[in-house]
Amino acid sequence: MMKQQFENYTQEDFKVWETLFERQVENLQDKSCQEYLECLRELNPVLNSANIPRFEELNNVLFKKTGWTIEVVPGLIPVGDFFELLSQKKFCSSTWLRSMAQLDYLEEPDMFHDIFGHIPLFMNKEYGDFAQQMGRIGVQFKNSEDVLLELQRLYWFTIEFGLLKTTETKIYGAGIISSFSETNIVYESETEILPFNLDEIINADFRNDTIQTKYFLLESFDQLYEALNKYEERLMSLACL
Ligand SMILES: [Fe+2]
Repeated sequence: MMKQQFENYTQEDFKVWETLFERQVENLQDKSCQEYLECLRELNPVLNSANIPRFEELNNVLFKKTGWTIEVVPGLIPVGDFFELLSQKKFCSSTWLRSMAQLDYLEEPDMFHDIFGHIPLFMNKEYGDFAQQMGRIGVQFKNSEDVLLELQRLYWFTIEFGLLKTTETKIYGAGIISSFSETNIVYESETEILPFNLDEIINADFRNDTIQTKYFLLESFDQLYEALNKYEERLMSLACL
């Protein structure tokens, strides 16, 4: 099992973390969903701009609240392994940080994306249940390429790039939450925002090398969980044929 080597972080790493964190928290105040901001507040003692978070401390708080923990990975891992970890309430994170020169450009997810973007919402039970359920289905259908592809699309348009409608459109997807520019782009008029529709999502191709051109707007995290249950029922009945 890999571990975070805290002593390896440089002065620049601390500066990058502080800069990204402060800039994005301010940017998100009126743009991210309340659920995310509440989770972030709750995690503040162990997740703040003053210090690069220690995974051990984050894990203690996270585990106590919802049973989730962070699993350190070297980078992107095979999708089957990823779903298996989700089913065990483990969320993958890298430990490296982008450089000061690359604040807004990233080829692979770094720790700011993985931790700041993803981890807070795992303090929210409904959200975590959805992610775990998605992992379980991934494990159950690990030999079906079709199902794995559909789940990846669902993951992409929800956990990575999902929007949540409260009184107005708010962000919950980690890919947006951890990106200063994409957070603002969502509110531009050219952006296509569609109502959440699982069937449309599982058939929608996505690109991971550019800003998204469409987003799906969820009514509540419950809606997410219910849609996934219906999807699973459908898969099970197909599997019985
Ligand atoms: Fe991500």
